[in-house]
Amino acid sequence: METPMNLTKTLALAIALAVAAPGFAQDAAPTAEEQALLAEEARLEAEEAALDAAEAAPRLDPSAPNPAPAHPELRPVLDDFGGEAGLARLMDTFMAGLLADERMGPFFANADQERVKRQLVEQFCVILGGDCEYTGRDMKTSHAGLGIDRADFNRLVEVLQVAMDAHDVPFRAQNKLLARLAPMHREVVTE
Ligand code: HEM
Repeated sequence: METPMNLTKTLALAIALAVAAPGFAQDAAPTAEEQALLAEEARLEAEEAALDAAEAAPRLDPSAPNPAPAHPELRPVLDDFGGEAGLARLMDTFMAGLLADERMGPFFANADQERVKRQLVEQFCVILGGDCEYTGRDMKTSHAGLGIDRADFNRLVEVLQVAMDAHDVPFRAQNKLLARLAPMHREVVTE
């Protein structure tokens, strides 16, 4: 890890070399020192780009619980949902229901709906013991600043229930999933 102090030292060295050997920049063939300096410069640039990329990546809250704890014993429940493909079909209905709902619509209207659906499929698939991977953010980070209250949370669950009914997901299977989602109100509800 390069520290600002090392960066300062490198720059000082570059200036010192330039002063000590004026005109070296015009030399046709770069000297070994010049090559070393150029290599160092390229390395610093790459390091800076990597730091920028890390900055742009979604911030995850280390205090947030695992958003997708796997429950291998729920694998039969995933079958009741029609597997990962069934979850994907369910999410289309769920998102349509959310957007059509007076209370939920405003939350999701400006969200990246395709992304949310994709992340929900992954999340539910992992929770239900499927051979999937959840690549989304934790629940605390995902919902921070949205101003969600308990009634909003309950309404989202109702819209999900309506979607599950529409897809003929057995009541018992619905409840198995909902039991795993219920504790997430601690991260999602902030009001
Ligand atoms: C157990 C309940 C919930 C679960 C499991 C859940 C799950 C998720 C997931 C997986 C994402 C995507 C994360 C990502 O982008 O990496 C997400 C995003 C989102 N959720 Fe939830 N959510 C829940 C409750 C709620 C509630 C109650 C609301 C609002 C009333 C809500 C509104 C949103 C919105 C607007 C986004 C998109 C945020 C953005 O684009 O930055 N969620 N949720």
